[in-house]
Amino acid sequence: MAPDTPLQLLGGLTPREFLRDYWQQKPLLIRQAIPGYQSPISADELAGLSLEEEVESRIILEHGDQPWELRRGPFGEDTYQQLPERDWTLLVQAVDQFVPECRELLEQFQFLPSWRIDDLMISYAAPGGGVGPHYDNYDVFLLQAEGRRRWKLGQWCDSDTALLEHDELRILAGFEQDEEFVLEPGDMLYLPPRLAHYGIAEDECLTFSVGFRAPSASEVLSHFTDFLGQFLPDEERYSDLGCAPTQDPHQIQRDALLRLKGLIDRHINNEQLLMTWFGQFMTEPRYPELVGGLDIELGECFGALAEGALLVRNPSARLAWSELDDGVVLFVSGLSRRLDGELRELLKLICSADIFYLDNLAPWLDNDEALTLIHELVKQGSLEFANDE
Ligand code: SIN
Ligand code: CO
Repeated sequence: MAPDTPLQLLGGLTPREFLRDYWQQKPLLIRQAIPGYQSPISADELAGLSLEEEVESRIILEHGDQPWELRRGPFGEDTYQQLPERDWTLLVQAVDQFVPECRELLEQFQFLPSWRIDDLMISYAAPGGGVGPHYDNYDVFLLQAEGRRRWKLGQWCDSDTALLEHDELRILAGFEQDEEFVLEPGDMLYLPPRLAHYGIAEDECLTFSVGFRAPSASEVLSHFTDFLGQFLPDEERYSDLGCAPTQDPHQIQRDALLRLKGLIDRHINNEQLLMTWFGQFMTEPRYPELVGGLDIELGECFGALAEGALLVRNPSARLAWSELDDGVVLFVSGLSRRLDGELRELLKLICSADIFYLDNLAPWLDNDEALTLIHELVKQGSLEFANDE
């Protein structure tokens, strides 16, 4: 995507300007980011999704059994008949994985890495509905798809900010309102992480949230060191070869700490392993159970392609690729595969195309490594035959 072309989606800013001046820093209200936007899903269809076993959904009622009652889906047919007229919200996660037309919206955000995008959450709110004043640790774009919603923006928060006593929801105990605006269909609000916000439906409304993934420092360190640990032999240990005689045997001296630091530094700075871990971590599917594989032989797989079958990307799979010192690597749904640099263009195609068939795979069909890769992606479930049920 051209970084210096002004985008309507960003209110006329170029991606470069938006990333420099707003991204992760300050909110941006964009009137008519997508003029005439028509929601590809109706409120009834969204409620229908919330009945499905594999769909993650929640209902939040402001005045339920307790203030801000949280109910978790899947819901029953009767759930919606029993809800009050107002002041509740239904939230459905990862609608992009279940409704192809909703997935198209994410294509507008290609000025950001796809592996940073987590999911498209869609909320339906009855009049007055909202999820309470809160902050998120992630960036979010909130596109108003139907009806009007009043957004109030408040203070910057962190883990010391006081919350209401609630077992499951993180609702702010105090909201210090700064700005407020009413969003109409097609308007969009960008919010950086940790900014307090409170959206209240003026009338029945649908709001689309494009949410991002960012591991916490604690996750990075604990998961990466677990990953590194797998490659370290048990005999590699803290060593004090050449140490001086102790002065006080009960004291841990600084030289011991420096040896320990040497041990950590020797491994923690391995960029190739860090890249491998990071790619695997960022492509972990939100719902791994939806990336189910197909038990198929290589010959059968390419035989089907030769007969005109189409392969499509599993909407629950996540893909990314990267350069390594000695080749390229494909990250796919939490796994990584190192490949010869010759396959770079195939990796780019696998990450970007929606559909694969004999013609667009043709340049690689006489390369065994490429055939094995495609076969593995089908067996693993990240690529699927289009009509395979
Ligand atoms: C909503 O869509 O109701 C909530 C979105 C958010 O505040 O993050
Ligand atoms: Co939020």
